[in-house]
Amino acid sequence: MAEKRVLIVSYSYSHQTRNLLKSLIKGLEDEEVLLTWERVSPLQDLRFPIGTIFSTVVMMLKTFFRKRYPIMPLNPSVFQQWDLIILAGPTWSYNPSGPILSLLDRDGKNLIAGQSVLPFISCRGYWRVHFWGLRSLLKKCGARIICAPIVFSHPTPEPWRTIGVFLKLAGKDPEVGASWFCKFYPKYGHSRKQMELAYDIGKKLGHDIMAGKKPSKLKFQTPISSQEDY
Ligand SMILES: Cc1cc2nc3c(=O)[nH]c(=O)nc-3n(C[C@H](O)[C@H](O)[C@H](O)COP(=O)(O)O)c2cc1C
Repeated sequence: MAEKRVLIVSYSYSHQTRNLLKSLIKGLEDEEVLLTWERVSPLQDLRFPIGTIFSTVVMMLKTFFRKRYPIMPLNPSVFQQWDLIILAGPTWSYNPSGPILSLLDRDGKNLIAGQSVLPFISCRGYWRVHFWGLRSLLKKCGARIICAPIVFSHPTPEPWRTIGVFLKLAGKDPEVGASWFCKFYPKYGHSRKQMELAYDIGKKLGHDIMAGKKPSKLKFQTPISSQEDY
């Protein structure tokens, strides 16, 4: 079977995207796809959690206006032709994250022009505006095919996940301890079952790629979220 090479370019602030990708990659590799994983690193380390309610509100406001977070240079070897590029990262205030915006500003054309790109999103629950904005940026960079995204939302029901994510970012650890809130918010981020799902998606994606399926035909059920899976 002909070799298939996939590049994953990702940013992850609180390790949710990263953990999902580890499972996805295992599934892809089990199907013999050759993987290169490039992690985007901000020039200035972004500490998680943000730490205070005030600085969390400030960061949310800045990221709402698409603040860029400058990044380190990418490994020069990523600038080549791939069978597929997976661009992965979290939603920040209805937008792609600041490091991914910086990546697209600086390297987008060189990295993405003429390539097939599959967006991969980890979010609390609101990803559509992020995806629409990302799709338009990818088009400007000259992406040849932009696949339907793979999306993982936090599985905790509202309003707890919104309050929980905010408190977590502000450094409050809302899921720890014996408070009444923990009953409604048992965990920050994605569940173990979603990690297993990411593996299954990786296997299916790997199988489709190895079988020569066109990237435009790659489709996954989104958003991938369930409220019973802790
Ligand atoms: C500054 C900031 C803004 C966020 N805004 C949103 C948002 O608008 N919609 C959403 O669903 N999640 C939002 N989130 C939550 C993250 O998308 C979510 O926690 C994601 O799983 C984090 O992935 P990561 O750990 O890979 O960074 C925001 C997180 C941060 C830090």
